[in-house]
Amino acid sequence: MINVAVLGYGTVGSGVVEVIEHNKEQVNKKAGIELHVKYILDLRDFPDDPYGDRVVHDFNLILQDQDVKIVCETMGGVGAAYQFTRQALEAGKSVCTSNKELVAKHGPELLEIAKAHNCNYLFEASVGGGIPIIRPLNSALTAEKIEGITGILNGTTNYILTKMETEGADFDSVLKRAQEKGYAERNPEADVEGHDACRKIAILSSLMLGKTVDSEKLYTEGITKITSDDFVYAKAANCSVKLLAMSRNFEDGSTLAMVAPCMISKENPLAMVNGVFNAVLVTGNMLGDSMYYGKGAGKLPTASAVVADVIDCARHQGKVITCFWDQEEAKLADVSETERAFFVRAKAHSVKDLEAAFPGGRVLTVEGRTQDVGYFTPVMKEKDFFAKYEKLGDSVLGRIRLA
Ligand code: HSE
Repeated sequence: MINVAVLGYGTVGSGVVEVIEHNKEQVNKKAGIELHVKYILDLRDFPDDPYGDRVVHDFNLILQDQDVKIVCETMGGVGAAYQFTRQALEAGKSVCTSNKELVAKHGPELLEIAKAHNCNYLFEASVGGGIPIIRPLNSALTAEKIEGITGILNGTTNYILTKMETEGADFDSVLKRAQEKGYAERNPEADVEGHDACRKIAILSSLMLGKTVDSEKLYTEGITKITSDDFVYAKAANCSVKLLAMSRNFEDGSTLAMVAPCMISKENPLAMVNGVFNAVLVTGNMLGDSMYYGKGAGKLPTASAVVADVIDCARHQGKVITCFWDQEEAKLADVSETERAFFVRAKAHSVKDLEAAFPGGRVLTVEGRTQDVGYFTPVMKEKDFFAKYEKLGDSVLGRIRLA
């Protein structure tokens, strides 16, 4: 039998206990040994919970218990979660986590500590919830030179954009409804401003490169400026608007990683990813494109990924599972020097100004609309686009990158 401790009995933590108990037979068979949740660490008590008798309030009890071999960190944050993870790994206990903030900030350091103490730090649930993407990058795709990764990595924003697209609703009203239904956090900033997706693409990019991509250095733009008018033009152009987390390697050895809302063709497989679903499109030099799709958040999908890591730890007791992610920082490309086309929405009288600023582009008009006009620029350097865009002043109403 292997004893497991769960740190944090919130949504994901309680899901981890539920998955281990509900799928007991399956989980134990796949682990090759019985898994037993011995402790649940939380500040609160849960007297009515079936596992309430396992709740403890002192982490040292878990740390000092030689029988606990695997710890699930489902607390979140980078304070106590970081300290507890370090201490557990230093004591030779493997840690499985869903905490993307901690993985993005301290991943390579914690991996090194795990390696030094002959245990594992696994984080499948930190990106894409229940979608297997960390494991494919670490094992099934290791023969590939990964050229790029593009993902819809945030369920909240994808839900909001999908509703704006299908119902013609504006951002504020959809966000309010999403909060009422519990799909969006009361403080939605990390999601709608793109920070959550940024941490996730930083993790995936680091695994792609084997070096550290610092999430705090990535260009990140959220969806708060996307309007229902933008979707009218996107539809006319047979496109959708998605919050994309993107990572692409260049010949000079640099990598462009960023998060921004993008207009994408309806033919793009990511255009079909709707609602709270996530997807990750990985382009390898031999395989070409492969896509990973599923529930990117939620109690049981996320918990399922944590428990899969627990099973892996149980199978690899005393062995370190290889993960290529060094502390050395990756060379990041400057987004302003990279090239792409943009969609610009402007006041109707501005066509001549748009054509003068971005010659060789294409006007997009929508029947019945007199107040504004759409324009697709040619592919150009981002810094050149923004220099000209700023000069158009009040004439322009918004811009979205094309991907
Ligand atoms: N807030 C995140 C999302 C949860 O909406 O995708 C999963 O990381």
